[in-house]
Amino acid sequence: MSARLKWLAAAFIGIAGLAATVVALNLRGEGTLDAEIAATAAPAAGWRADPEVIARGAYLARAGNCQACHSARGGAPYAGGRAIETPFGIVFSSNLTPDADHGLGRWSAPQFWRALHHGRSADGRLLTPAFPYDNTTLINRADADALYAYLRSVPPVAQAVRAHELRFPFNTQAALAVWRALYFEPREFRTDTTQSAEWNRGAYLVQGLGHCNACHASRNALGATSGPLDLSGGLIPVHNWYAPSLTDPREAGVADWSRAEIVALLKTGVANRPSGLVTASGPMGEVVLRSTQHLSDADLGAVAAYLQTLGAHAAVNPPAAASTRALKTANPQGEKLYADHCASCHGDNGAGVAGAYPPLAGNRAVTMAVPANLVRMVVEGGFAPATPGHPRPFGMPPFGQTLSNDDVAALLTHVRQSWGHQAEAVSTLQVSRYRGSAER
Ligand code: HEC
Ligand code: HEC
Ligand code: HEC
Repeated sequence: MSARLKWLAAAFIGIAGLAATVVALNLRGEGTLDAEIAATAAPAAGWRADPEVIARGAYLARAGNCQACHSARGGAPYAGGRAIETPFGIVFSSNLTPDADHGLGRWSAPQFWRALHHGRSADGRLLTPAFPYDNTTLINRADADALYAYLRSVPPVAQAVRAHELRFPFNTQAALAVWRALYFEPREFRTDTTQSAEWNRGAYLVQGLGHCNACHASRNALGATSGPLDLSGGLIPVHNWYAPSLTDPREAGVADWSRAEIVALLKTGVANRPSGLVTASGPMGEVVLRSTQHLSDADLGAVAAYLQTLGAHAAVNPPAAASTRALKTANPQGEKLYADHCASCHGDNGAGVAGAYPPLAGNRAVTMAVPANLVRMVVEGGFAPATPGHPRPFGMPPFGQTLSNDDVAALLTHVRQSWGHQAEAVSTLQVSRYRGSAER
C-alpha cells in the first residue's frame, strides 16, 4: 500500500470506529429494554388503567409540566404542535394523546419508558433535546408507567405532528447521535443516603420531573447543560429571561429562606419575606401557574428542603467597603424616568408596598449581574400568577411602547445604583439585546 492509501485506510478505520462508538453510546443500557419492547404489545384502544394509577399519573404530569410544551396555545390538551424556539431552529412538540395515527395510541409502556429514559421515539428515532430528556431520564419506571396510564386516558386528538424546522446539520439524526454521545447519558436517580427521605424526594422532583435546570442552568454553544444537577443559572435562549442561580444567595438561592417562604413562592407565586414581597415573574410565573401550585404540601416541603441545602455554604463576597465604592455618576435622566413612571408603585425610595408592590431597594433581582429580567419586566410588564393562595395579584404595566432603549438603560442604571446599590450600569446595547426576542 502506498503511504497515501495507508493514510486513507487509517482515516477510514478511525471514522468507522468513531461512528461505532457514537452508535454504541446512543444505545447505552438499552439491551434488556429491546427484548421487553419486542415482547410487549400496545394495549387495545380504549384500555384504561386503574383509576388510582391514572390519578397519580395526572399529578406527575403536572409536576413535570408536560402540558406546557405539549399543548399548543388554544389547542387541545396534550395534542402537541407547540412551537419551541431554539437557537438551532423551531422544534414542534409531539402529540401525546392516545390517537393511533398521530399520538401514543400504538405505543406500549416500555416504548414510552424508552422515550423518557433514553430519549428515543417508538420507532427508534433519536429525539431532540428540546424535550428535556436529560431530566426525564431520572424519572423512575413506576412514575413513567403512571404517566403513560394517564396519557392513555386523555381524549385522543387526530392532529398530525408538524415537522421540525431545524437548520442543517441540526435536523439530522447523525448530528443528534453525536450530540447525545457527547452530552447525554441515561441515568437513574441516586438516593443520597446521608440525606433524609424528604430531601431525596425533593432532589428527585427538582432534578427529574420538575426539570428546573432546563431553565436554571447555562448552555454551551450546542445547547447542552452540564447535567441535571447544575442549577447555577442561565439565560433562557431566545426568550432572553435569565433563570437565576438556585445555588447563589445573590441570585435565587433560598438557603436563608424559611421553608414556609419557599413553599409559599411555589404554591402561590408570592412570598412575603421580611425584606418585602417576592414574586415569581415571567417564565417562573408560568411554572408556578401550571405546575408547582398543584403539588402537594408534602412534595413542596420536600422541594424546599432540597433547595435550602443548595449553596448553603457558598462564600458570598462581603459588600465592598465604603472607600472602594464605585462612584455613582449623575444620572438625571434615569432619576426623572423613575419618578415619572415607577415611583407611584415602587415608592420614591424603592421601598415598594407590603403585600402589593415588590421593593426595588435591597432587591437582589435588581442588582443581579445579568440585567435581562429587569429589561423584560420593564418592556413587558407583568403579573405574578393568579393562584387560589393569591387570587388577585397586582400588575405592572408594560413600558415597551413608552420608553426607548436609551430610556430603559438610564432608568435601570438608576435603580441599580440608587439606595445603596452598587450594581453595574445597564447599557443601551444590553437593552436592545435583551429586548430583541420575539414576543411570544
Ligand atoms: C420543555 C418542553 C417539554 C416538556 C416540559 C416536556 N416535553 Fe415531551 N417533548 C418535547 C418536544 C419538543 C418533543 C419532540 C422531540 C422530537 O420530536 O425530537 C417531546 C417529545 C416527547 C415524547 C416522544 C413522542 C414521540 O412521538 O416520539 C414523549 C413520550 C414525551 N415528550 C413525553 C413527555 C412527558 C411525559 C413530559 C412531562 C413529564 C414531557 N414530555 C415534558 C418537549 C417537552
Ligand atoms: C421555564 C423556565 C423555568 C423553569 C422550568 C423553572 N424556573 Fe425558576 N425561574 C425562572 C426565571 C426566569 C426566574 C427569574 C424570575 C423570577 O425571579 O421570578 C426564576 C426564578 C426562580 C426562583 C427565585 C424567585 C425569586 O423571585 O427570588 C426560584 C426559587 C425558582 N425559580 C425555583 C425554581 C424551581 C424549584 C424550579 C423547578 C420546579 C424552577 N424554578 C423551574 C425560570 C424557570
Ligand atoms: C402600577 C404599578 C407599577 C408600576 C407603575 C411599576 N411597577 Fe414594577 N412591579 C409592579 C408589580 C405588581 C410587580 C410584580 C409583578 C410580577 O412579579 O410579575 C412589579 C415588579 C417589578 C420588578 C421585578 C421585581 C422582582 O422582585 O422580580 C421590577 C424590576 C420592576 N417592577 C421595576 C419597575 C420599574 C423600573 C418601573 C418604572 C418603569 C415599574 N416597575 C413600574 C408594579 C408596578
